[in-house]
Amino acid sequence: MSISYAKPFRLLSVLANNPVEFLDRSLMIAGVKFAALYDRKSSYELVDWDSLVFRLNEILGPQFRSALSESQLASLTSWLSAKQLTLPPDAPFGVFHNGDRILAQLCYAVVRARRPRHILETGVCYGVTSAHLLAALDANAEGHLSSIDLPPLGERNYDYVGWLAPPDLRGRWSLHRGTSRKLLRPLLKGLGSVDLFVHDSLHTYKNMKMEFESLWPYLSPGGVLISDDIEGNSAFQEFVSRPDVLFHAAIQEQDKHSIAGVLVKAGQRE
Ligand SMILES: C[S@@+](CC[C@H](N)C(=O)[O-])C[C@H]1O[C@@H](n2cnc3c(N)ncnc32)[C@H](O)[C@@H]1O
Repeated sequence: MSISYAKPFRLLSVLANNPVEFLDRSLMIAGVKFAALYDRKSSYELVDWDSLVFRLNEILGPQFRSALSESQLASLTSWLSAKQLTLPPDAPFGVFHNGDRILAQLCYAVVRARRPRHILETGVCYGVTSAHLLAALDANAEGHLSSIDLPPLGERNYDYVGWLAPPDLRGRWSLHRGTSRKLLRPLLKGLGSVDLFVHDSLHTYKNMKMEFESLWPYLSPGGVLISDDIEGNSAFQEFVSRPDVLFHAAIQEQDKHSIAGVLVKAGQRE
């Protein structure tokens, strides 16, 4: 979510080339303006990283902690650092969109410990979280990631979605271009169930609530929901008080002001 959606010239060129996308983007701009007026910030009791690792290790299994020192994760981190240095100066998105290190590590370790068959993610941009999810699926040698993204406006923007996802890991990936409002429900229906959901798209109350509520009947028992930017509105906070939530936590991210949330659905894993 950024002010780049409001670049009037680019938006007009979308109108000429793709009126449906123009309508989607216009609705998103209206949603962001509405959220700026009416969304109320949430405050959370924050956990520190060591406590979160301890609890998720108990709940998801001991591979959670060991995953964090795996060579595959270290290799991905080096690969991403090198790749980011090659980002062309005229690349369409600001790197401020990139997922934070805490969020990325959380994604990697949850996948290694939970061994999901299906992961669904909203919000890709250059693809920090996607790269971590894919690397963990590769280490598991099973599972698939489906991602939804409508990229920020910009020159050749579609070419850069998932630019940071290592090409040799893309075999386990389906990338769907469009808004989560349109694509999420049909994808959930097609998948039947999801073991891990990662929200990092449009962080308005309306959109986050829609994503969480659409997901919930499809999230498998013991399934995990990870969300970026839970502090901007009350969607995550309202959700964690459900009786079928086994565990939830909020953590301050390392390189951003954002807060990430994680919750585990109650029930026995199949
Ligand atoms: C914060 S970035 C995602 C960062 C990414 N998870 C990472 O770790 O690098 C948010 C992305 O979601 C996209 N987006 C925003 N609103 C969306 C929506 N309603 N549906 C789908 N994608 C959306 C943005 O254009 C952008 O590409």
